[in-house]
Amino acid sequence: MYDDGGPARVVYAYAADPEASVPDGGFVEEVRAELRRAAGADGPLDDLVRQAADWSAEEGKRFTGLLDAGHREGRPAGHEEVLVRRAVLGCAPLSLVSGAWLQWLSAPGTFEVPVVLRILALYASDVGAGHPHASRGSAFLELLRRLRLAEHAVPAARLTGDQRIPESAFRLPGLLLAMSRRPDDFRGELLGADLCLRAVGLLPALAMVRRARPAETDWDAVDPSVPREADAERPDRQCRALVEELVAEDGDRAADAVRLGFAWTLGALRAWSGGLYAELVAAGDPAFDMAELMRLRAREGSVYHHQFLLEGKPLARWLAECRTDAYPLLDALSRSKLVKPGRASASSLVRGLVGERGPMFRVFSPEDLNVIRRWIDSLPTPSDDAMTAPPAVVAAESAPAAVPAPAAVAAALRAGHRQPGRVPSSVREAYHLLMRRTDSPELRVWAKRYVAGWLARSRHGMDERTMPLPVRWGREGLRPWLQERHDRHGAEFEENADVPLPSREAVVDDTVQTAPLTLIDGSWLQGFTDYEQASSEIGHSLFETYWDELGNGEPRLNHPLIYRDVLKEMGVDLPPTASAEFARWPGFRDESFELPVYWLCVGRFPRTFLPEVLGLNLAMELSGVGGTYRRARLALKAYGFSTRFVDIHNTIDNVATGHSAWAADAVDTLMAALPETPGPGGREETWQRVRTGYRSLNPPSGVGARLAARRGRLAGRRG
Ligand SMILES: [Fe+2]
Ligand SMILES: [Fe+2]
Repeated sequence: MYDDGGPARVVYAYAADPEASVPDGGFVEEVRAELRRAAGADGPLDDLVRQAADWSAEEGKRFTGLLDAGHREGRPAGHEEVLVRRAVLGCAPLSLVSGAWLQWLSAPGTFEVPVVLRILALYASDVGAGHPHASRGSAFLELLRRLRLAEHAVPAARLTGDQRIPESAFRLPGLLLAMSRRPDDFRGELLGADLCLRAVGLLPALAMVRRARPAETDWDAVDPSVPREADAERPDRQCRALVEELVAEDGDRAADAVRLGFAWTLGALRAWSGGLYAELVAAGDPAFDMAELMRLRAREGSVYHHQFLLEGKPLARWLAECRTDAYPLLDALSRSKLVKPGRASASSLVRGLVGERGPMFRVFSPEDLNVIRRWIDSLPTPSDDAMTAPPAVVAAESAPAAVPAPAAVAAALRAGHRQPGRVPSSVREAYHLLMRRTDSPELRVWAKRYVAGWLARSRHGMDERTMPLPVRWGREGLRPWLQERHDRHGAEFEENADVPLPSREAVVDDTVQTAPLTLIDGSWLQGFTDYEQASSEIGHSLFETYWDELGNGEPRLNHPLIYRDVLKEMGVDLPPTASAEFARWPGFRDESFELPVYWLCVGRFPRTFLPEVLGLNLAMELSGVGGTYRRARLALKAYGFSTRFVDIHNTIDNVATGHSAWAADAVDTLMAALPETPGPGGREETWQRVRTGYRSLNPPSGVGARLAARRGRLAGRRG
């Protein structure tokens, strides 16, 4: 069962990257082929939902039956531990990313679409919006930690290096993660998969673990069918309702996609769960665990041990042969003087050899030593009725073959894009192309260069006079500075009381020219919807900010929609933001797309440009609070326009408990963890990047700055 890096692991590790670009063409076709090939059932969605729930209940009983049988047969306590450990590790790749497949289903071009807002609401409950480490996956991580199995669990991609987890366990979650990176191709399938997983609820193997270890984690959080708050709607119903909404909008094709995603997920779950069950049955025999351990260590071990002979054969040879079949070595060991059958405590294999002075000190972990001890203790002593073949070994060999790994999908992922992507010829075209999450290598290169240029411009002439952020970051953090800035905004507002308000035309023009920016409010944070980012120490508040900008799932609180209302009052009815007509709309000036395009570009790289995004976020959230929002309010009011958009921002972005406070905290969290060394990654260098990001909201626009931008873009191209 132990594996090296198989294709499912490759797909999983690749797609867990928050900046992963998953190719078009071959990859999409291979995934579709895989979905169709492995979709077990078909029929109306209601039937499928029932099937999934029934299967889950039955399969859960089968797993808990193993636990009960163990108790009935009076198996040693170690047996239960083995069942729990194997079940938990087997479920880890899926459970650690529970809900992650929804991560990219909102995009700047769909910020105002009701069904997208609902999907985001469901997703926000999965990640535990607003709190660090509160996702469903985090609850599972807690379980891994309590059971001391979490060595390879953070970030989730590292799990692929854990050889105790079989390749088959990465198959379903790996593909779901990869599909999540192409939301425009797989929206229906992803929702179908989600609905299936909610109908299944707690994975059957975990139902057993929950029974055995009821207090080791918040099990309701691990179970995707249970709401995160007592009075909230059940997630399975939530998902069902938004599937209906999607089908009502997109028709039969969407319905087919949902059913396909559902049926494939159910088929994949059944196959995987069956394999896991067989593994648990087989592991009832301590020799199964021992054989696996030997297989796992055989590769490294065969490098040594050329001198040591076991029944006339060098141990290195035994170990090399072990990689295909470990049982002959087990038999030889049990006959050797290293092992006293039935008496681990007297056997030199777990005493002298691995002791502090022994030649194999630290070769085996304490967990490994338990496996060896359990095996030795289970061996019949010479006085026992010896030489009966252990039944579980037979079970291991007759276990159903693992479901075929998605080798073709992994190959297509490696092969990359088939079609060269469009390179924007203007800032307007870029705006349109960047409305979606899905992209091409060419567009990503363009986006990175645009960011490089914008940041070079933002750095131009940056000194104490032009930059409000302090020159150095202090250990007291940014909160005191934030208060001071807020006081100043208030004072400036009072000082400007006598300055005449802008004309009606000027107010309307400003509102219109700001539309390409405001209608994608929050897009600089789009990278933080990534599952691991959204529940991380730094990212959780950024996700919550994004989630607020979009109205927490409610259209009446959605900032872009509120902005459209003001525009309508002004007699301006703009095309949908994602449409080509919007980007071409003649009422906009070209310059009005420059900053929005920067947001759309930088938001795609939450890791590469983390310090800059944090600085930009702080500038953005703080920009209007206490001052310009209040002034804008006066102007809007004077001409009889709604002030809702500025009112909501002046409160939600507040410096005590609102977005600007969170923005400052996120910067402090980043800075506090950095070393005080000079150079890249140190506090000084990173702080300069945060400052540049802060200034990037409003970079200088003189000739020098424009030249710096050009140089920055060229350097970006060379880089
Ligand atoms: Fe906003
Ligand atoms: Fe905000």
